[in-house]
Amino acid sequence: MAKNVFKGRSLTVIEDLSIDERRYFFRKCYELKQAAINNDQAKLDEFRINDKDFGIYEVFLENSTRTKESFRNAAKFHHAKVSELMTSSSSINKGESYADTFNMLTGYDNTIFIVRSQVEGLCRWLDDESLDYTRRNNLPVKPAFINAGDGKHEHPTQELLDEFTFLEDNGMDFSNIHVALVGDLYHGRTVHSKADGLKLFDKVKVDLVAPPELAMPENYLEKMKENGFDVTVYSSIEEYLSGSHEIAKMWYFTRPQLERMGERILQKQDVLRESITFRKDFLDRIPVGTKFYHPLPRHKEHPTIPTWLDSTDLNGWERQAINGMYVRIILLAIIAGKVGDDYVSPEVEEDLSAEEDYIVKVDVSGRKDDKKVYSEGVHPIDNGIVIDHICRGDRPDDIRNHMRLISSVLNIDSDRGGEWISKGKDGAFKGIIFRPGEYELSRKDLKRLAAVAPGCTLNVVKDGKIEAKYRMHMPPRVYNFDDLSCKNESCISHPSQGENVPALFYRTLDGHFECAFCGKSHSFKEIWKSRKN
Ligand code: CP
Repeated sequence: MAKNVFKGRSLTVIEDLSIDERRYFFRKCYELKQAAINNDQAKLDEFRINDKDFGIYEVFLENSTRTKESFRNAAKFHHAKVSELMTSSSSINKGESYADTFNMLTGYDNTIFIVRSQVEGLCRWLDDESLDYTRRNNLPVKPAFINAGDGKHEHPTQELLDEFTFLEDNGMDFSNIHVALVGDLYHGRTVHSKADGLKLFDKVKVDLVAPPELAMPENYLEKMKENGFDVTVYSSIEEYLSGSHEIAKMWYFTRPQLERMGERILQKQDVLRESITFRKDFLDRIPVGTKFYHPLPRHKEHPTIPTWLDSTDLNGWERQAINGMYVRIILLAIIAGKVGDDYVSPEVEEDLSAEEDYIVKVDVSGRKDDKKVYSEGVHPIDNGIVIDHICRGDRPDDIRNHMRLISSVLNIDSDRGGEWISKGKDGAFKGIIFRPGEYELSRKDLKRLAAVAPGCTLNVVKDGKIEAKYRMHMPPRVYNFDDLSCKNESCISHPSQGENVPALFYRTLDGHFECAFCGKSHSFKEIWKSRKN
């Protein structure tokens, strides 16, 4: 029998399940729901873990009704051991670290943790951390972590139930979808998960409807475009319904997340809410067969989907919430290894991109007699290093600031040598750092230089000649350096969280570094801890 690829896996972001795995997952959700509707107990039993000692632990550090209760009921369906951490009376309030708290609970025979927190990337970190703990203590199983919503980052199980509901209304057809995302797209983690989640469909058209203050963050917008989605932005429902473009038949509303808004936006909340709240006079401007969805809760005084719509055919949100339990039953079942044995992974081509060399050594053997002139006004050095082509095209002040950072990152602050800004024939500025002296740069130093100054060249000069020359490109991954830091204060890896989580960044297709924990996009200048220049 093929290995069950789902068993023991965590779901920290929606991309933890491949598109093919999700398609399999939704077929199982459909089978389960049909069995439940038909009260087919024999079929339902095929999905049941049926083990009273199988430990499922809920840790909700932020409020929840649907996610918590649908998981609790899903766990009960499985006849499993269900526990809940009473967070208000937990030692986590005495300053205990997340790692210590979850490791302890792992030791008490728990296999799946369901975690909601304001701290972004927490599950990803716990997934890494628990591996060491499990090994240290010879525990039989490493626990799995399910992200039940982390700050304004992601809510992958909500994404699963949203996708399943869209599919139900699409006749379980994966070929295309046209959906409008309406509401607080800035703070709403359920819409952020859609940047990758909607890749489930072969062809995706997304209409983003939100005032600029609540617009989709740039990195998620970019991701949608990179993923090939056809994206159009509107600032209000009024604007969306005006004009001659095609209006989506699927509208996904989100609640203005007042609890995550700063004072400046809160002051404008009435105006902002109005632009994303459905009105009676919009009814005859939407296509026949339109369905509305909402992750819920709605605000009791100011719902963006008014309650007078509850008993209309537009109501897709109640079935969506009910689907939450079916989807979570299957999620627990695949992680427990109860479902998934019949899944066959498609052949995938090996991704060799991480193997590429981002430090390219240039052959200088034919240039032995060249007299190197580095730039206007810079006297060639006989022995030392010259870093050239720094921040080509940036403003001189920015280049100057960045050269200070490079010197500090490479620890080549020195009383000798200097920094220079030169203007090319094309009018673009670039920076040059030259340091006379003996420098032995290790592979680690070269990687740091590639990460802090991609696009630069490094010349190692000996006895007046260039002995070695390297061109630096952005590394695919940057980690294991003490002076890296994610700039998102809500991220588990931010120093202010006090969890000593080492920062880790992945290069994105658009030339940024994305935090592996919270997904925040950074330029290569931003991934370093602030330092005194
Ligand atoms: N949709 C959702 O996450 O609801 P809860 O906050 O009630 O879990």
